[in-house]
Parts: sequence; structure tokens; C-alpha cells
Amino acid sequence: MTAMGTTTPSHLPVMYAQVLDALCIRPEGRYLDGTFGRGGHARGVLERLGEGGRLLLMDKDPDAIAVARDGLARDPRVALYRGSFADLAAWDATADGLDGVLFDLGVSSPQLDEARRGFSFGKDGPLDMRMDPDSGESAAAWLARADEAEIADVLWTYGEERMSRRIARAIVARRAEAPLGRTGELAELIAAIVGRRDNGLHPATRSFQAIRIHINRELADLEAGLAGAVSRLRVGGRLAVISFHSLEDRIVKQFINARAKAPPANRRMPAVETFVPSLRAIGGAQRADAAETRANPRARSAVLRVAERLEAAA
Ligand SMILES: C[S@@+](CC[C@H](N)C(=O)[O-])C[C@H]1O[C@@H](n2cnc3c(N)ncnc32)[C@H](O)[C@@H]1O
Repeated sequence: MTAMGTTTPSHLPVMYAQVLDALCIRPEGRYLDGTFGRGGHARGVLERLGEGGRLLLMDKDPDAIAVARDGLARDPRVALYRGSFADLAAWDATADGLDGVLFDLGVSSPQLDEARRGFSFGKDGPLDMRMDPDSGESAAAWLARADEAEIADVLWTYGEERMSRRIARAIVARRAEAPLGRTGELAELIAAIVGRRDNGLHPATRSFQAIRIHINRELADLEAGLAGAVSRLRVGGRLAVISFHSLEDRIVKQFINARAKAPPANRRMPAVETFVPSLRAIGGAQRADAAETRANPRARSAVLRVAERLEAAA
């Protein structure tokens, strides 16, 4: 089922129609898109708002904010904030409550496409990978100082890279000769260890994903962002989250379940008598339809989860 009764063409953002359906947009409601990107979803929300509706936009990335400032943010119904959605509850504009919150996680196509951002193993550029280049440590700086065990741990935990230890050892050996400063150098070094993968993915895919998640503190931000969203959602308000890998989806699923269902009874633990659900899960994991996954390879790994805010616990 889609909002517009059509399949999603490739120029629309991932799971566009399902996201707009999920948010149940009311023309006079207040909505927050915590991951503006290039504003594909945000534009769809804004089109459904009336004069009294409000759309709050956030992104960590200055390039995304610049696009929003020159575009959607000119609309008087829109407010813009550069920063992490982890801090959404600290933004004054959210204090009146929200009728819907969207997180479309991960990196945007422009971040991957622009070599200077350093996210891509396919395009040589400075080894940066920060969504917000003005804060925190670049991938190059982290790889220059982290010890071998920490690098291996990140590659394994966030990338499930089976060769994490060998790759970490090679990185440490290489940097003893010269600093690793380019995405191309890192991709080549990893490819020389991993060789070809049967799944057709570039041998550095998992390692680049892992380093990016670590550098941007993506999982910690997600946990904080989900908590912030629930604290600001009005009763009946909707939370919609699109994840692109199992680590993110597990966090979203567990977050919703922990607030929607009483924990199972356990004879050895005191009974939790006063469980009051604060969320209701709306269906389970949704995936992009076949037409969209054919048109947009990125949609193949997308999982949308939706929940509705219930009456606040007394
Ligand atoms: C997949 S893109 C979003 C695409 C967007 N839905 C669209 O239609 O264009 C993800 C965006 O979220 C931003 N982002 C990721 N994590 C963030 C966070 N914790 N706080 C704010 N922005 C974040 C990234 O900088 C990127 O621009």
C-alpha cells in the first residue's frame, strides 16, 4: 500500500510513499525530519501541510543545511537546525511537541558521491568520513592513533568484517611507514588482504561502513535520537525510522519493543506490575517493494519501522 497508490520511481527518496503513509500527516501538525539530506522526504511532508503546519529540519552536514537554507527553509512553516538528531529534545522548536518524527539513517547519496567527503572507497579523496566535518576526529586521524585492537574491534563490531584483525595489523604496519590519508590507499590496502568477495561487493565495503559508523557515533546518536523523539512526540504522534543495516535495525526494533510490550514474566525476577506501554508498534519491519529495489539498489537493504506514541505513563 502506498500513499499515492504508485510504485516509487528512482528519483524519489527511499520508501517515500510508505514513509508519508506511516507519518499520517495532519495538515496542522508539527513534524520533524531529523535527517534532511537533500530534502526528498521533507518536501513530501511539507506538501501535505496546511498553513498552520510546521516542519522542523535537522542535519549534521553543512552541505545538507546549505541546500535546506536555500530551498525548503524559505517557507515560513519550516525551521532549520544544524546538529545531531541525538539533541533534538534540546532544540527549543521541539518543546511544543511533535506529531511525527522521521529518521532516514546513514549517509546521503551526495556524501557518497563527493570524493572530498572521504566516504567512498570507489572515489579517491581525503580519508575524512565525518558527516559534520567541523566536529570530532576524521577517519585519517583516528586510524593514525587508534591501537590495533581498537581498529580490529571496530571493523568486527560495526562491519562484521571476518578479516578485521588482519586488516587492523596491515593498517598499523602501513602507518608506521607513512600516514594513511586517502580513501584510495585504504581501499587498496584492504582489497589486497580481503581479495574478491563472492557477493560482488567491493572488498572494502564492510570496513568503510564500520569506520564511518564509528567516526560519526551513529549507533549512540540513534539511541539518543529515539529517546528524544519519544520524549517530544504527542499522543498519537508517529515515529518512522529507516535503517540500512542490522545493527541499526536491531536498536530500533528493541527500542520499540521495550516500550510497547511488557517484559516476559520470569520466576526468578520480581514481577513488573506497572508496565505502561508508551509506544504501539505499527506493523513489523517494512521493506521497499520490488519496483523500487530494481530501480534503486540502496533500497534493497532499507527497513522501515513505525510506532505510535501512546498516552504518557502517569
Ligand atoms: C539517507 S540521508 C537522508 C536523505 C533524506 N531523507 C532525503 O530525502 O534526501 C541521511 C542524512 O542524515 C544525516 N544524518 C545522519 N545521522 C545524523 C544525525 N545523527 N543527526 C543529524 N543528521 C544525521 C546525514 O548527514 C545525511 O544527510
